[in-house]
Amino acid sequence: MSQKNKHPLHDKVIVVGVSGGIAAYKACDLASKLRQSGAEVNVIMTNAAQQFVTPLTFQSLIHRPVITSLFTSAEEWEIEHISLAQRASLTVIAPATANVIGKLACGIADDFLTTFALATRAPILICPAMNCEMYANPVVQENLGLLRTRGFHIVDPDEGMLACGDVGKGRLAGVEKILERIISLITQAQDFNGVKVLVTAGPTHEPIDPVRYITNPSSGKMGYAIAHAARERGADVVLVSGPTNLSPPPGVEMIKVKTAAEMAKAVFDNSKSCKVVVGAAAVGDYAPVATAKDKIKKKPSEFTLSLKPTVDIIAELGKRKKKQVLVGFSVETRDLIENSRRKLKSKNLDLIVCNDVTRTGAGFATDTNIVTLLDKKGGKEELPLMTKLEAAHKILDRIRTLL
Ligand code: C5P
Repeated sequence: MSQKNKHPLHDKVIVVGVSGGIAAYKACDLASKLRQSGAEVNVIMTNAAQQFVTPLTFQSLIHRPVITSLFTSAEEWEIEHISLAQRASLTVIAPATANVIGKLACGIADDFLTTFALATRAPILICPAMNCEMYANPVVQENLGLLRTRGFHIVDPDEGMLACGDVGKGRLAGVEKILERIISLITQAQDFNGVKVLVTAGPTHEPIDPVRYITNPSSGKMGYAIAHAARERGADVVLVSGPTNLSPPPGVEMIKVKTAAEMAKAVFDNSKSCKVVVGAAAVGDYAPVATAKDKIKKKPSEFTLSLKPTVDIIAELGKRKKKQVLVGFSVETRDLIENSRRKLKSKNLDLIVCNDVTRTGAGFATDTNIVTLLDKKGGKEELPLMTKLEAAHKILDRIRTLL
């Protein structure tokens, strides 16, 4: 095979960690496909995993010995434990049980897989699979959240019929989806190395009085996903965020603001050295002309509030920009594409991400999105329903071509 046609995983060292759930049988297919792609595949099985599938199954598929215990001969220990952690390009844990997720979140290392996970510096991709009630349990969700903030990558489970007969979210994500994520983590690993990216995210709060403000339903999830993905790809990221309930993505410089004016100041102070600015924030377009010092008292008569326009941050950057790549977001309830094209031009943007909030699975508080990308040369790319993190990577792919 010529160098050019090589599969992106060719010669990569992929470690497949298999823990004890019925979905362990699907990990056989994953390991086999990884090997077919030309990767060196190493399988680590927990004790419980060996109750579902035998090491021999994996060994026959990957043509290598399978690691089943922390306590092997000194020779194997040296080879497998020390060097594998250093040689690994990526580790995928599929299926990841609630038990393994809990141990990883706590730093417990009582078997080869969890010990290895502490020792490797390569990316770790966790593919949870379990009963839907277990998956929904707050402790599992908190552990996954913790792992996310520590830089672990997670492929959410699918919804559907589970082995136990329940129907819900907990089924191991499809092997193709897991493979796609592995390829994206390996190939896109560092294509933003040395690039400084500023992202705005979340809503703004425009105070009316000390206890009331004007805001919008933005959750910040899309902007945080872009900051997270850009950091994953090696960018130096500044995230200017309005009030959200989200944890800051790992390795990102965070500037927390409340109002549009504060956001504008933080962006203008920090964006000069940035090659890319992504305005994912839902900045309030109007703020009260004055904020009352004390709580405004309720009266039976009508109440009129005077509002003044806020600074259009991204449009202001559009006026000043020389070589910066400027990306805006557009939320509309009608004529999305026409309105967005107009915005792209009037704000002097390079790319605009159009968000049709009226469609199911798209919009503010969801974990998924359906977006269309418009560029200033007239290009249009409609993306299907995907997670906000996947959409973030697609948006970054486009930004990469504009740099
Ligand atoms: O004009 P509209 O608010 O629809 O444009 C949305 C885009 O402009 C988003 O990228 C948003 O972050 C940005 N914006 C801004 N400052 C404002 C209003 C919107 O940067 N005051």
